[in-house]
Amino acid sequence: MSNSQQDFVFAARAGEIAREAGARLREFYAQGVTTEYKGAADLVTVADRTVEKLLRERLSGAFPTHGIYGEEGTRDRLDREFRWYVDPLDGTTNFAHAVPHFCVSLGLEQRPAGLAEGEDGTLVSAVIYDPMRDELYLSERGKGAWLNGKQIHVSPIATLEESLVATGFPSRKRHESPNVHFYHEFTLRSHGVRRLGSAALDLAYVAAGRYESFWEFNLNPWDTAAGILIVEEAGGKVTDFSGNPYRLESKEILASNRKIHAELVGLFADMFAGRDLAPIVSPHDYAKSKK
Ligand code: IPD
Ligand code: CA
Ligand code: CA
Repeated sequence: MSNSQQDFVFAARAGEIAREAGARLREFYAQGVTTEYKGAADLVTVADRTVEKLLRERLSGAFPTHGIYGEEGTRDRLDREFRWYVDPLDGTTNFAHAVPHFCVSLGLEQRPAGLAEGEDGTLVSAVIYDPMRDELYLSERGKGAWLNGKQIHVSPIATLEESLVATGFPSRKRHESPNVHFYHEFTLRSHGVRRLGSAALDLAYVAAGRYESFWEFNLNPWDTAAGILIVEEAGGKVTDFSGNPYRLESKEILASNRKIHAELVGLFADMFAGRDLAPIVSPHDYAKSKK
């Protein structure tokens, strides 16, 4: 494995592009933006759209043969060997409420000729940039994961009981999500569950050894493509909740430091089977117990 980032083929230039995009996000953040709705609680702002346009121009300029698949609608050259999954602003709800926790996420997939849409190629390069902390995560397959020029590794913690973990909740189809049950169970079995509102940064934090695990339902390829490679290159593991290889279209993501992965997959299996669940105290029972 390389000890420097000098062997990067794409990530160095993509990192510069993400820094420029992050600087635009900081400007919008400072001036404040109006929030629009894509769904009941699914927000979008002028910053999401403007920064996707900037990323589209810059990535097309730097890598003219590459395709681009962006959250805000960019679908360019999807028949090409290389494809960038672009989330111009991951953490829009935080951004819209002036909470300084959001990022730019760029993940590059290499797709063999003839691969059908919906089938996965190989993630080869990744950039996540947190503009408020000036933290730039870079990775390429086989070359490690890096944060501001220093190589990062997942945490050595070996049990869930000693772990800090993270999750997120979908902004679409909120009523269909069972995740509050998982939130409850993981809270009782770990040091705690964080829910900071940027899936890409959640994955980056697993890679950096800040969290031992992150899980979520119903993410999209632009949320996860970069973070998956960064976690794997930092020594972690990414699967679905059953421990099967993660696919970009998967509706379940479970990332970990690898050491607690089997324990987590076992817990998910128990929970889906309804085994050993701690009861959730209802507000009504709590109120009655106080009398
Ligand atoms: C969202 C964030 C959030 C996650 C949501 C995503 P967005 O992305 O990653 O943490 O819980 O499911 O949709 O909409 O801010 O790009
Ligand atoms: Ca996102
Ligand atoms: Ca977004």
